[in-house]
Amino acid sequence: SKKKSDKTSTKSLWDWFLPFQKRKDGQVKISISTKVFGFLINPLEGVITLQQCFKEAQPTDVFLVTCPKSGTTWFKTLLFAIMNRDLYDYDDHPLLTTNPHACVPFFETYAIENATNLRPDLSLLATHMPYTCLPDSILVSGCRIVYVYRDPKDLFVSLWHFANKIRSKELPTLILGEAFEQFCRGVSIGGPFWDHVVGYWKASIEWPDRVLFTKYEDMKNDPQLHVKKLAQFIGYPFSIKEENEGIRQKILDLCSFESLSNLEVNKNGLIRLGQDMVLENKSFFRQGKIQDWKNYLTTEMVERIDEITKHKFKELA
Ligand code: A3P
Repeated sequence: SKKKSDKTSTKSLWDWFLPFQKRKDGQVKISISTKVFGFLINPLEGVITLQQCFKEAQPTDVFLVTCPKSGTTWFKTLLFAIMNRDLYDYDDHPLLTTNPHACVPFFETYAIENATNLRPDLSLLATHMPYTCLPDSILVSGCRIVYVYRDPKDLFVSLWHFANKIRSKELPTLILGEAFEQFCRGVSIGGPFWDHVVGYWKASIEWPDRVLFTKYEDMKNDPQLHVKKLAQFIGYPFSIKEENEGIRQKILDLCSFESLSNLEVNKNGLIRLGQDMVLENKSFFRQGKIQDWKNYLTTEMVERIDEITKHKFKELA
């Protein structure tokens, strides 16, 4: 069945980010086979710097880990609002005037710009690094890791839209089917997606106090419950007084898709993610819904991706 997306062609999923790179070979893929992971060249430099030089993770640190398009932006805001709730009022909050990616940087891009002083002045950071690529200091520090999983069908559709949005206007639109093929073969940032998930799933089973495996869909379906769990896990539980004052709901309202996507900063602002990559803030807000894949993927695509998911996750059952 024909869906909304089959327009013009491109060579490869790896073209997606090239307009933002100075170098012609703008990205390195370590490999596109399974069990190893791909990075853009800028974050890759950061990953290597962190692996070699970052020794200062603290037990009080919180690392948000995602595959791109899992809801990173949303969870950045939730964690930021939870952890800083004593500092700010809700009518004068930094998230009302600052893009979430500026409030909570990606550690691998932070590392490139701060290579001589890797210990950030922040206890909340985000990363797309696979588990096996985390610096030892993070693994041994006892810090908290929050991993966000999203249904790969929705994640892929979101990624495809994002790639087209940030792509140079001179380039043709990416064909959904070609991008899908690459995604299924494991070609994606921090991917293969499924191996990324399995790494953190296993860690969450082994160290449940240190690694929280949470789902975008669960947060959508029952935000009250899951934001409470999130706050408890990172050591910032809501007190009875806060509950009576409705702080949990205030945080959810502040971080809702409707609220964030309608802010001036997120409608018209720009964010620099690494030396050569400047993106429109609005590119991180599309629909914020679940099961949008039903509008894009053919029956064959759904069967294929579900089969890969079943196969890759069978050891987790
Ligand atoms: P869609 O493209 O499906 O709408 P990431 O932050 O990891 O890049 O993920 C982006 C996805 O999260 C996009 O999904 C985006 O719309 C959605 N998103 C952004 N902010 C959100 C929020 N506050 N609540 C729910 N979803 C949000």
